Amino acid sequence: MAIRSILAGVGAYLPDRAVSNDELARTVETSDEWIRERTGIRQRYIAAPHETAAFMATAAARAALADAGAGPAEVDAIILATSTPDQAFPATALRVQAALGVTKGFGFDIAAACAGFIYALSVADSMLRTGQARGALVIGSEVYSRIMNWQDRGTCVLFGDGAGAVFLRADEDAGRTDRGILSTHLHAQGTLGDILYVDGAVGRHDKPGHLVMNGREVFRHAVVRLAEAVAEALAANGLTQRDIDWLVPHQANLRIIDAMGRKLGLPPERVVITVDRHANTSAASVPLALAEARKDGRIRNGDLVLMEALGGGLTWGSALVRM
Ligand code: UT7
Repeated sequence: MAIRSILAGVGAYLPDRAVSNDELARTVETSDEWIRERTGIRQRYIAAPHETAAFMATAAARAALADAGAGPAEVDAIILATSTPDQAFPATALRVQAALGVTKGFGFDIAAACAGFIYALSVADSMLRTGQARGALVIGSEVYSRIMNWQDRGTCVLFGDGAGAVFLRADEDAGRTDRGILSTHLHAQGTLGDILYVDGAVGRHDKPGHLVMNGREVFRHAVVRLAEAVAEALAANGLTQRDIDWLVPHQANLRIIDAMGRKLGLPPERVVITVDRHANTSAASVPLALAEARKDGRIRNGDLVLMEALGGGLTWGSALVRM
């Protein structure tokens, strides 16, 4: 029987401090009205100094393990998506490994910007299916507040901090019951690297490292690429739009999310939305949304969940999961 990766538990962490649009409008020339109308964002969470990617990831991972009824001994792999790691190395995943008391297996970080969680989920799924691990934590954790240009109103109002995690368990019987990750699909186009990027890193001492975005261009690509990724996921599994119970999209802009929902013919109440409260948390946005809808009882066992995301790179992808 083929091995499947079961999404056994979900967890989330958000910083203590919520910052409203009005609060931002005191320091940068913007307004609550503009931000709401163009993006759907009402507020975002901003990390305190101690709330690093590793700190938030550890909290989200603990919650995911508890949700799965699993302990550190069940964790073979930690795959963490972040563009805002605590350090160049060790990998943030290994700071989490140590904090959780996991003493075996392996871990590493993935840098795929806002599509990072989908990338990490895909890698973890492949490793579980091929028997390289039996239990994997897949985490998205980001502190974009530290790479914002707080003078650039075109970007600084859009992003927020947070972490989301899932615990995956290898299951030999899942193929029969049709549960687990059905497929993932990854894409990238490096030639579009200059429409959304960070202009520095630890290897570039001449640059502080701030996010730069051509919002209109990214918007245009997002609508087209994400629609393609969704169609690809359905076709690969012989499914149609009508089979989808939930869309858990990347939370960048409510207008992009609404467009995707309409394309899939999904009523708004079948689309999980957190962008209004979390803003864009990059690699954390999909697992944060998933954790919220799982915890409040909307997404139930047996439901078919479609996740998708697009980010700097460009990177994009989708994952289809039967809970
Ligand atoms: O997670 C990675 C993927 N990221 C995305 O998917 C983001 C995709 N892009 C977007 O979501 C949208 O393009 C934005 C929300 C970034 C911008 O919305 P837009 O409707 O494309 O606005 P725009 O960039 O075309 O700007 C319209 C106007 C401009 O003024 P003019 O040139 O028309 O006079 C901007 O200067 O709005 C102005 N503007 C603002 N005004 C008030 C830009 N930012 C702000 C602001 N407050 N914060």
